[in-house]
Amino acid sequence: MAKNIIVSNRLPIRISKVENSFKFTATSGGLATGMKTVHEHENSLWVGWPGIGIDEIAPDAWAPLAEDLEENNYAPVLLNKEEVENFYYGLANKCLWPLFHYFIEISTFSESHWETYVEVNKKFSQSVIDKIAPGDTVWIHDYQLLLCPKMIKDARPDVNIGFFLHIPFPSFEIFRTFPCREALLEGMLGADLIGFHTYDYERHFLSSVKRILRKEVQFNRVINGLREVVVDTFPMGIDYDKFYSKAKEHLAQKEHEKSELKKQLELHKKGAESGKLILSIDRLDYTKGVVNRIKAFDLFLTKYPEYLEKVRLLMLTVPSRSDVPEYAKLKKETDELVGRINGKYATVNWTPIWYYYRAMSFDDLIDLYMTSDIAMITPVRDGMNLVAKEFIATRVSGDGVLILSEMAGASKELFEAILINPFDKNAMADALLKAITMPVEEQKQRNFGMQKRLSRYTVEYWAKDFMTALQSKMEIKEEIQIPKIQNELKQQLLQAFNEAKKKMIFLDYDGTLVDFNEKPDLAIPDAKLLQLIDALCALPNTDVAIVSGRDQAFLDKWFASLPVTLVAEHGHYVKRKGGEWMGTASSTKDWMADVMPIFETFTDRTPGTFVEEKHNSLVWHYRKTDPELASGRVVEIKTVLSSLISDKLTILDMDKALEVVDRQVNKGSAVFEINSQGAYDFTLCIGDDVTDENMFVSLPEHAYTIKVGRKPTSAKYYIENVSQVKKLLSSIVS
Ligand code: G6P
Repeated sequence: MAKNIIVSNRLPIRISKVENSFKFTATSGGLATGMKTVHEHENSLWVGWPGIGIDEIAPDAWAPLAEDLEENNYAPVLLNKEEVENFYYGLANKCLWPLFHYFIEISTFSESHWETYVEVNKKFSQSVIDKIAPGDTVWIHDYQLLLCPKMIKDARPDVNIGFFLHIPFPSFEIFRTFPCREALLEGMLGADLIGFHTYDYERHFLSSVKRILRKEVQFNRVINGLREVVVDTFPMGIDYDKFYSKAKEHLAQKEHEKSELKKQLELHKKGAESGKLILSIDRLDYTKGVVNRIKAFDLFLTKYPEYLEKVRLLMLTVPSRSDVPEYAKLKKETDELVGRINGKYATVNWTPIWYYYRAMSFDDLIDLYMTSDIAMITPVRDGMNLVAKEFIATRVSGDGVLILSEMAGASKELFEAILINPFDKNAMADALLKAITMPVEEQKQRNFGMQKRLSRYTVEYWAKDFMTALQSKMEIKEEIQIPKIQNELKQQLLQAFNEAKKKMIFLDYDGTLVDFNEKPDLAIPDAKLLQLIDALCALPNTDVAIVSGRDQAFLDKWFASLPVTLVAEHGHYVKRKGGEWMGTASSTKDWMADVMPIFETFTDRTPGTFVEEKHNSLVWHYRKTDPELASGRVVEIKTVLSSLISDKLTILDMDKALEVVDRQVNKGSAVFEINSQGAYDFTLCIGDDVTDENMFVSLPEHAYTIKVGRKPTSAKYYIENVSQVKKLLSSIVS
């Protein structure tokens, strides 16, 4: 039976050292909490780090631990202390975590951390690759493993790969500051399906893909070579029944069944009948807005002193990443602030803040949720926040008030909560007043809506939704169908060339012989390329033609001295080897006067675009424009043009340019004529653009037609890039 391989930085348990032995504890945080349920229900293998440096465990102590892990279908990825330092504490949590949560000022990049991040991602990928069986699905999680999707896809293109980011994806303006931003995006795009908690993160990601990688995006699909990557929103839910039924159970508990914590909480409530318990639960993390929250509570007590001795803030902070200085600093700041406020307001009978710094058991957590009147969850930025959802699920009597930050992903679904801006302390203090005085009927009404939604879109539903989307994702057929020019195929081509009596080579220019350049004027052939073409021409019985969209002047400037045939302006002009330029068609150019003003108007409105005027065509280039602005403008301009131009003309949708040109003349008609006049028994044709497709379809069946790049094409083969083209041509020469 095919399995699902879950891959995340941490396994849902962590091993820690206690004196001379080791213990397992459950992992905190949204990812582990949510995926644990998925792992239990599916035929699943979980690949991840067990939370300790392998060099901290003696080899004989490791064997029984490994056995325990295996029993739970956990496949540990073993990292040594240094890797943990550089990968986990370093790049993941000193750089990516703060950056993605908009704490740009504390995000620090280090070259050596990055190198380890790459290495450790390789380690995770290899561990997955070793365990893949045919039909398996791989689901990779979170910011620690952004490079894994591509690494696994490169090794196993046949396997369906999903990726889910549990934290926010920042806006382009923030993301672009990361030094190796391209690698992160390319890494993620190795997946077939990429999921985010909210639409905002999805749109930020797509915007970065468009602007940084300049890839084409159609709605929520990224065209990545011949593959399509689907990007979508899947807000993660909770195991609603688990919380709801546990809460029901706790509600019915007899006195002797109650935990110490519960007894203590109830005692407190009895002491102040009208008093309220305000709950705050998070991992200790600067993104959770703990300091602002305490300050808002302070402000509340000052602003509304009638609540002194009546309300209490119960703060549970779960230790986290304490080796990162920012976390240690935050711990100190929180301790001091709590101390200061307790010192400021405490009376003999009352301390305003109860503060726990530790993890709690599931049962204790349920008691906390149930006994509180208000939950105050106010992160300054948070991918989702499942605690808010858990609080709502445990309110089995329907009452209780949730104060939630609008910066948490969960606020998109929990809009009946009192939503606040976590930077506005006044608003938070007032929200507390509103929560305290909210009539029970209103509380129930608000919670009812949220409970209904949460009980439907559970974590199981979420995982199923994601998996269904992943499985139904269709690959573009061509990927499997057209072979890449390498090894055997390359040998075959060379042999055919050597055995042929008369040979013809058609080469497109931009994107085939030279790389695409922001400025076309800079995409010029270097001496090596010119020598290579010269050497090709010098081979016996071999003709070479450069077939370009460029004009005659450009081609003459660079190639006039070589014994080649030149085809300019997509087939409008041909200059045979040793001959003169000839026009191939007597098409009229009157239409240019109509099209030019349209292009000019759009150029005025779209900074960075420009018009190129050729003898027989007009081109509107948008390669230097903001891609998002450009994609809108392209649709507009095509609509305007298509209602205006005659059917003798066509609009070519080129790479970052629109060209209006006479439909009857194209590169295809030009090469057809050249090829059929020469009685060639070998033809090679290489091109990258839409205009080159005309060549591919007009040449005879025996021709070797090769597309540069993995894009949809009618060519028979593809080759990866310009440098591979040059390598192929060099092999022909030698
Ligand atoms: C968040 C992240 C998880 C992470 C968790 C706990 O939920 O999205 O990837 O595992 O926090 O953080 P830790 O650093 O302890 O793994």
